[in-house]
Amino acid sequence: MEVYREPRLLSAKVKKIKKQGKGVGFVPTMGYLHEGHLSLTRKAKKDTDYVVVSIFVNPIQFGAGEDLKKYPRDLRRDLSLCRNNGVDAVFVPASKTMYKPGFSTYVNVEGLTDGLCGASRPGHFKGVTTVVAKLLNIVNPDTAYFGQKDAQQAIVIKQMAADLDMPIKIKIMPIIREKDGLAMSSRNVYLSPLERKEALSLYRSLRTVKGLWKRGEKNTEKLARKMRDVILKEKHAEIDYVSIVDMKALKPIKRISGKALAAVAAKIGKTRLIDNIILG
Ligand code: PAF
Repeated sequence: MEVYREPRLLSAKVKKIKKQGKGVGFVPTMGYLHEGHLSLTRKAKKDTDYVVVSIFVNPIQFGAGEDLKKYPRDLRRDLSLCRNNGVDAVFVPASKTMYKPGFSTYVNVEGLTDGLCGASRPGHFKGVTTVVAKLLNIVNPDTAYFGQKDAQQAIVIKQMAADLDMPIKIKIMPIIREKDGLAMSSRNVYLSPLERKEALSLYRSLRTVKGLWKRGEKNTEKLARKMRDVILKEKHAEIDYVSIVDMKALKPIKRISGKALAAVAAKIGKTRLIDNIILG
């Protein structure tokens, strides 16, 4: 496994690999890898011949007062996990390499980024799409892999790739959960044992909604109220949003007819967590 810090060296390597007729898969991450990330690298390994993982805590997707400084980092452990999971190359750029003095070009997907996390984290998706566009330009993979846990991010990136005519397939892979249902996230490490228990309320609320929806409840106001009730039973929970939106435009709907996304963001103590489930 090779580790690259310089974009042009990685680009040259991938070009060489592609010249040999090999397919290249790419998994962008912010590190502190867990099974969710590794499920993506394994899928990439299955689909393609050469797998690149990037590890970069992207400063421009964090807002003021968010957890950029304390975001968990453990490069040595990440590299060893990559090595043991068949990753071929890891890209670990420095911030000053990605954002040189005078950097002034941003990618912004409109509409899809207005609601859900876009509403409570202004500028977040602009930071995400800008860095992902840069990473896709540098790596130039055949396929890039994203997790369904960040459902809005995945849909926004798919839109960006289509709008900018990027010749890259974007694959969205299922959420990986702990045995008790908590969606895997690098941020779970912030949770105290009590908060860890309370964090299960997010998935519990989504399962409750799925159950009610399966039994015929289609009214999203009633479903969302139920979700809120489940989460607010927990002492340290503070809801950011609970929303049921259509899967394409990510706009709130009154009644569920086609495919819908039930999504939640909540703070458990100081830790902001997100989760979602597809209905339909
Ligand atoms: O999902 C993440 O870890 C990040 O948002 C991403 C896609 C790596 C961009 O920094």
